[in-house]
Amino acid sequence: MKNPLLALVRDGQPRLVLGGVLLALSATCASFTAQADEKKHASLAAQLIHEIKEGRLEMKDGDSSIVQELIINKNIPITYRYINTLMHTPNAFGPGAACVTCHSSTNPSESYRGLDLSTCEGMRRGSTEAPAQALFTPGKDPKRETLVRRLRNNRMPLGAAFNIPADTPNYLLVRDWIAAGAKNDAHFTSRVLPLFKQENAFGPNTPACTQCHMSNQEPPSFHELDLTTYDGIMLGADSVAKGVDKATKVIIPGKPGDSGVWQHLAENRMPPGISPTENRDHPNTLILMQWIKQGAKCQ
Ligand code: HEC
Ligand code: HEC
Repeated sequence: MKNPLLALVRDGQPRLVLGGVLLALSATCASFTAQADEKKHASLAAQLIHEIKEGRLEMKDGDSSIVQELIINKNIPITYRYINTLMHTPNAFGPGAACVTCHSSTNPSESYRGLDLSTCEGMRRGSTEAPAQALFTPGKDPKRETLVRRLRNNRMPLGAAFNIPADTPNYLLVRDWIAAGAKNDAHFTSRVLPLFKQENAFGPNTPACTQCHMSNQEPPSFHELDLTTYDGIMLGADSVAKGVDKATKVIIPGKPGDSGVWQHLAENRMPPGISPTENRDHPNTLILMQWIKQGAKCQ
């Protein structure tokens, strides 16, 4: 394969492994229910020894797996103090400057997007520069919300540099097509669809989208996403793995901001310059997600 990025570890894998671990957890240990009461009171360490004896603990991929097994699955409370440390620490989510060096106040002239990641209130408030927006909803799964998208989603086409502007004509053609209802009309066929098949359409030295997203079969098509036809684009990602009805929609007609295609085109992964080959399920990203799920509490 010509493009070294094609050799990327496939994104689906860690989740499949975790899914397997969860399945194993619920299927084994016949005496599980009988012991539920006892377990409620048992210490974490005692539970852990029990699970090791039962062969229910599988550490598959280093740090992320340990965090998943020993912290997330046990629902250990994540403190804001830990989150605050992450925001102030370089390389906390993969190589790069600490988040607060660039996002340290609500003043957009000294902090990008007027985003203050140095306080709990600032994190809960989100970006204050127009268009102002919250980055997550406390208590909800944050996977598809702004903060976690910025930590996990690589900008497309894969390898696109941080400094490519997202308001040039080809970008706007895609955004405006979604905003106008994502119709399968002559304008789409002659102006929008060809962009996905064209090299350098969204930045210098970038491959065509369809080089990596060309059918519903993975491999070779990443996320079983087919960007070669209208039907493929509207069907979305992972339609074989999840089933046609549960495929991840990547176009929400009328709403570019909610559409995966636009998000992946326009949003840079943080910290800026991080390589797409860096682990998207970084242990600290999993912990940050868990803090949000637990309600993003400030103590
Ligand atoms: C070197 C400076 C820099 C660092 C370090 C940095 N960012 Fe950013 N961040 C930016 C810039 C510039 C933008 C606006 C451009 C863009 O949207 O990509 C941005 C945008 C964002 C946004 C989007 C906000 C919105 O309203 O759309 C989020 C969320 C974000 N950063 C989170 C983080 C997190 C979390 C970290 C730490 C892992 C981080 N950033 C580290 C410069 C930085
Ligand atoms: C060199 C290969 C490559 C190219 C070129 C590429 N992608 Fe991707 N794409 C990937 C990989 C790998 C992922 C998995 C997620 C990640 O790395 O963020 C992905 C994920 C996606 C997703 C998320 C699917 C989901 O499950 O929600 C969308 C949407 C997407 N790409 C759109 C595009 C668009 C639009 C283009 C062209 C502008 C493009 N891709 C070009 C490799 C590529």
